[in-house]
Amino acid sequence: MLFQLQLLAYRLIKPFMKPVSRLVAIPRPVLFVGPGSTARLCQLIAGAGSKRTLIVTDAVLVKLGLIDPVRKALEAEGVDVAVFDGILPDPTHDVLDRGLVAVRAQGSDSILAVGGGSSIDAAKVIAAMATTGKSSAKLVGMLKVNKPPLPLYAVPTTAGTGSEVTVAAVVTDPVAHVKSVVVDPKLVPLAAALDPQMMKGMPGPITAATGMDALTHAVEAYLNRWPHAETPMFCVSAVKLIFQNLPRAYANGADLEAREGMALASLYAGLAFTKAYVGYVHAFSHKLGGVYGVPHGLGNAIVLPYVLDFLKDAPYAEARLAELAVAIGAGSASESHAVLAQRFVDRVRELNRAVGIPEKVAPLRKEDVGLIARAAMVEAYRDYPVPKNMSLGEAEALLQRCL
Ligand SMILES: NC(=O)c1ccc[n+]([C@@H]2O[C@H](COP(=O)([O-])OP(=O)(O)OC[C@H]3O[C@@H](n4cnc5c(N)ncnc54)[C@H](O)[C@@H]3O)[C@@H](O)[C@H]2O)c1
Ligand SMILES: [Fe+2]
Repeated sequence: MLFQLQLLAYRLIKPFMKPVSRLVAIPRPVLFVGPGSTARLCQLIAGAGSKRTLIVTDAVLVKLGLIDPVRKALEAEGVDVAVFDGILPDPTHDVLDRGLVAVRAQGSDSILAVGGGSSIDAAKVIAAMATTGKSSAKLVGMLKVNKPPLPLYAVPTTAGTGSEVTVAAVVTDPVAHVKSVVVDPKLVPLAAALDPQMMKGMPGPITAATGMDALTHAVEAYLNRWPHAETPMFCVSAVKLIFQNLPRAYANGADLEAREGMALASLYAGLAFTKAYVGYVHAFSHKLGGVYGVPHGLGNAIVLPYVLDFLKDAPYAEARLAELAVAIGAGSASESHAVLAQRFVDRVRELNRAVGIPEKVAPLRKEDVGLIARAAMVEAYRDYPVPKNMSLGEAEALLQRCL
């Protein structure tokens, strides 16, 4: 009963959040796109006056030899470089503390994140910790970054989270099994390079999961109730690019054209959802990530078709799904919304199958369903302008289908 009242309160407050969310201006980074664009970003970093840049990355990427050329490109421009390669997937407060130690040791005047969402998110928070003097725990929440962070640049190596253009950074608490978000427009990097060369070696399963994360961003933002003028353009472009390029990038990692298509899709989806938000899929996936460590993209990919099954008969969502079906060539605008919406959901399931995404969440346990459903509904009702209300019973039934 108390829980139902809590959800009702979120629903009543939600309409007042729309104008508030419109007041916050979101900057956009300078972008370099194409093979070799990382070198151009390095020139810009030097041109901006950086003397000591910390590369924030993970050990896998160092081992793959992706970091050395970046270091050399910066050094060639006269920038002193240190590397912090301690980022692990879903960075925790401890990892961020270690990153701050690396900033202090170098006396860094800028940070270059090279990696997936985990490295970029970590770099965002470390850059803010360095100037605000706040711990990462104190930065969790909305608009807590009270000073400009260290100048921050990004080279995403997954496609992806879109973190290179978003106001968000996700921090994981491994003890409480909770993923929290730092949200502040000051976190948006100053510049980024979408360099398909940096994505060539991404293994198939990571290509698939991160690509479906980007698809989820685009679809959830498109279905949500508070679109901005540019939301349809970014979402539809991202969805088309992902259906065209994800199977290609999955089948042949060295297909640079497909990699670039996915990098652009991830960027567009990031630009869309950083203003129009995500929805139920992310709410479930954040809990599955917090409780079982299910990788973010994989959790989204599995849950996405089940959430679309639930949303598709709400007229607003049905019409948007029908538009997406037409955009990817799965039907013609003369067909009924119901037929087209179903076809889009079927295509999402086919895409999942084509890139090896399972239909079930392997670690999900029956006894956790109630807890995860409640936590996911709190996040969805509190944070996202979803197109249809989901009851707790419906959330539990949805998770049962993932078992
Ligand atoms: N800030 C945002 O707006 C936002 C949006 C969505 C998700 N996230 C967060 O981002 C994190 C997930 O990021 P992710 O999905 O990009 O994965 P990730 O950064 O956690 O990386 C996953 C794995 O892929 C490897 N990898 C990355 N690029 C590679 C490459 N080019 N070649 C080979 N291996 C590579 C990494 O070493 C790592 O082992 C989660 O914590 C999620 O919550 C943030
Ligand atoms: Fe995501």
